[in-house]
Amino acid sequence: MSQLTIKPVTGNIGAEIEGADLSMPVDPSVAEALRDALWSYQVLFLRDQHLDIAQLKQVTALFGPLQRLPYVEPLPDDPLVIGVQKKASDKNVGVFGGNWHSDFSFLEHPPAGSLLSAVQVPEIGGDTVWSNQIAAYETLPDDLKRAVEGRAAIHVGKPHGVKFAPKGKQRSTIKMVRGDPEADRETVHPAVRAHPETGRKALFVNPVYTSRLDGMMEAESEPILDRLFWHATRPEFSCRHRWRAGDLVIWDNRTTLHFAVNDYDGSDRLLYRTTFSDEQRPHA
Ligand SMILES: [Fe+2]
Repeated sequence: MSQLTIKPVTGNIGAEIEGADLSMPVDPSVAEALRDALWSYQVLFLRDQHLDIAQLKQVTALFGPLQRLPYVEPLPDDPLVIGVQKKASDKNVGVFGGNWHSDFSFLEHPPAGSLLSAVQVPEIGGDTVWSNQIAAYETLPDDLKRAVEGRAAIHVGKPHGVKFAPKGKQRSTIKMVRGDPEADRETVHPAVRAHPETGRKALFVNPVYTSRLDGMMEAESEPILDRLFWHATRPEFSCRHRWRAGDLVIWDNRTTLHFAVNDYDGSDRLLYRTTFSDEQRPHA
């Protein structure tokens, strides 16, 4: 039996996990309890972990095989880890993840989940917010539910492609590849996806990468997507994390959206990020 204590942080999403030292080899029963907690709460917060890169990768692998992401520059010596960094001298720059999104939903196989390990964080600001898309789906107004049920949505790597990429030189908290025509390729995913572990249905559209609903022109789709995004990010479906150095946060990318709050100009912030896939896990 694992020694974990699970403390939900809101009524709908997120749990703080106590009693785990993930810098040490993890007992299979603890790993199983962590996975179950992640599927239940969608986002897990573990304080005082202070993981190095090797430890972070080992913890990531408890949830699924590590996934290398295109379009972002990884650490020079490790292609599976991204440094999310903003320096005190970076003023008025966009931050990576500074709008509601599910990580890389425009890929044919979007990541199953992501981890962030905090190395250096501002004294105030730089929080991250997540929103529960199972709760969002379950509470959709009837007309919106009818609009998305059984329908696909089109995703495009907008910030990275040619068609939609922001003009001019962009500075961001991580180095992104822009202007890649491959990122303009349209990928189709169900607008409502069943979670492969639990079967629970979650809304799967986001304002960064979803361009339109399948079978509709963008102009026809836009007012529906706007209402979906507004509903999907209601405060009662969300939780907000105030970072401390040493924190480890794990989230399910299939059932959540997240948002990096950029309110810490003048402070240094560094987190390491990994991503895991569900391609080699059996699908329900
Ligand atoms: Fe993200």
